[in-house]
Amino acid sequence: MKVIAIANQKGGVAKTTTTHNLGVALAAKGKRVLLIDLDSQASLTISVGLEPLEVKRTIVDVLRKDGVPVSECIERISDRLHIVTSIIDLAPMEMELLSRASREKILDRALRPIRGEYDFILVDCPPQLSILTINALSCADGVIIPVKTDYLAYRGLTQLQDSIQEIQELINPELKVLGVIATLYEKRVGDDNEILAALKKEYNLLGVIKRLAVAKKGIYDGLAVVEQTPSSEISIEYNKIADIIIVTERFERVEKENG
Ligand SMILES: Nc1ncnc2c1ncn2[C@@H]1O[C@H](COP(=O)(O)OP(=O)(O)O)[C@@H](O)[C@H]1O
Ligand SMILES: [Mg+2]
Repeated sequence: MKVIAIANQKGGVAKTTTTHNLGVALAAKGKRVLLIDLDSQASLTISVGLEPLEVKRTIVDVLRKDGVPVSECIERISDRLHIVTSIIDLAPMEMELLSRASREKILDRALRPIRGEYDFILVDCPPQLSILTINALSCADGVIIPVKTDYLAYRGLTQLQDSIQEIQELINPELKVLGVIATLYEKRVGDDNEILAALKKEYNLLGVIKRLAVAKKGIYDGLAVVEQTPSSEISIEYNKIADIIIVTERFERVEKENG
């Protein structure tokens, strides 16, 4: 479980927040982490405190035809936390990707030379089931699905699962669904509790992240909640999920070594 895609075709379900917090949490636990911003809105890039237009080489350089080696497009956030940033130019690039041979495997091929240098590579997906999301799912060992605890978000999961299944059958049989994270949960809202109960019943629920104002506090300073407010319930929950990821990876590695 080295490459993990954080995916949901819906916007505003906390994909970027989840990627950022899990990345920072995993790095704080001693893991070498690479974040990849695969959304042209560059929210993850901004969240870690970088200005998209000021970064010299971005995911666009990695993905374009005759692209630059990914190792030359990595920015250091801290010792153990690195990122390949995004930029608005990624949007027109999707058209170009579509015209390429083996267009689903472009990210996979680009990441191969550096996979060994990281314990985890977290890919923040865009809010569409686009060729970019398909690229993320085609190179991932696992996928984590953040889902807002409301009815429409819950219903949207079926479509995402169909896509994941198709990718497993046609492109990437290794892809595993690690589980879902219930996000923006409000205890006092009846609907939220019903959806949470349904998620618990039907999916592997990795954690529940409450909707709290503290989530936005660190954004201007490029800080994740887990570093800005380590004692908040959000931080505790993201840390717990990071531990699940670490344990899952260790278990899979041992299984593989023992054949
Ligand atoms: N636990 C939370 N509590 C309150 N607001 C949150 C929480 N998680 C995320 N947000 C906010 O919700 C919005 C959408 O989150 P984001 O991570 O950008 O979602 P996505 O990447 O799926 O579009 C952002 O404004 C973010 O700051
Ligand atoms: Mg996002």
